[in-house]
Amino acid sequence: MEEKVEWKKAHYAFKSRWDSTDGNMCRHSMSFFLHKTIRADFFSSYLFLLEQLPLVKLFTLTSEVINGEMQFYARAKHFYEEVPATEEGMMGDFLELNSIDVESSSVFLRKFVGGPGKAETEYALDCGCGIGRVTRHVLLPVFSSVDLVDMMDNFLYEAFSYIGRDVRKVKDYFCVALQNLTPSIKKYDVIWIQWVTGHLTDKDLMEFLIKCKYSLKDDGVIIIKDNVGRQGCILDQSDSSVIREIEILRNIIAKADLEIICAEKQLDIPEQFVPVWMLALK
Ligand SMILES: C[S@@+](CC[C@H](N)C(=O)[O-])C[C@H]1O[C@@H](n2cnc3c(N)ncnc32)[C@H](O)[C@@H]1O
Repeated sequence: MEEKVEWKKAHYAFKSRWDSTDGNMCRHSMSFFLHKTIRADFFSSYLFLLEQLPLVKLFTLTSEVINGEMQFYARAKHFYEEVPATEEGMMGDFLELNSIDVESSSVFLRKFVGGPGKAETEYALDCGCGIGRVTRHVLLPVFSSVDLVDMMDNFLYEAFSYIGRDVRKVKDYFCVALQNLTPSIKKYDVIWIQWVTGHLTDKDLMEFLIKCKYSLKDDGVIIIKDNVGRQGCILDQSDSSVIREIEILRNIIAKADLEIICAEKQLDIPEQFVPVWMLALK
């Protein structure tokens, strides 16, 4: 009985949030999902009081817009099951941006590799690699070895033929979601993360970046290239991803104890597209 009263109190306290969640879950039980939501809210508030940092905004922001972490990830997986393993599929039907994208990425990458105080050109990791578009056009012309990671096995399988002659330089294919990946310590000179950060919740992205930091060799660098929204955090229901404004990304990066050493906006993208930014982190 006492337990029920406690549950009711919590229910009313977070009623506005629960309005948008599954009514049955709220009515019938203190389900695992609700339990996790309450715990996350209390945790965020605690951190906010303790640190006066906008972390609370970060953690609740994606949880507010995604409406359930498990569904958020499951929907993305479902979406990519229907995406063709082609360049067009990887570019979300904007194939015309492919050459602009790879040319700018190559120029950006060269600023941080091969030279005193810069990253070596030995080993790179391509995160959320898809069929290996970035690996083929940007990473393999520079690095002796590249590892690929993506959650979709059919994309990784396609990478064998798509990458072509240089595929022998691809050492490992990891079929795993980034939120579950722990890359080896001090293994990579460059970790490239393109058009996939929006598929991770704030907390998972922060934790993944921390793991990436430990996976870098000395002078190594993490490069994020992604869509950046004009304001707030918006859910793209079609592929189950979020588009964050740059300030939110900056906060997540700072929380991962990484520094943005260079930030550049991708040029020559038509006005109607979401802006794309390249960020180099150390
Ligand atoms: C828009 S495509 C971009 C592919 C590649 N980075 C590129 O620029 O060509 C997004 C890729 O991220 C992968 N992906 C989405 N969510 C992921 C997750 N949580 N973990 C690992 N890969 C994920 C998808 O399978 C897909 O291959």
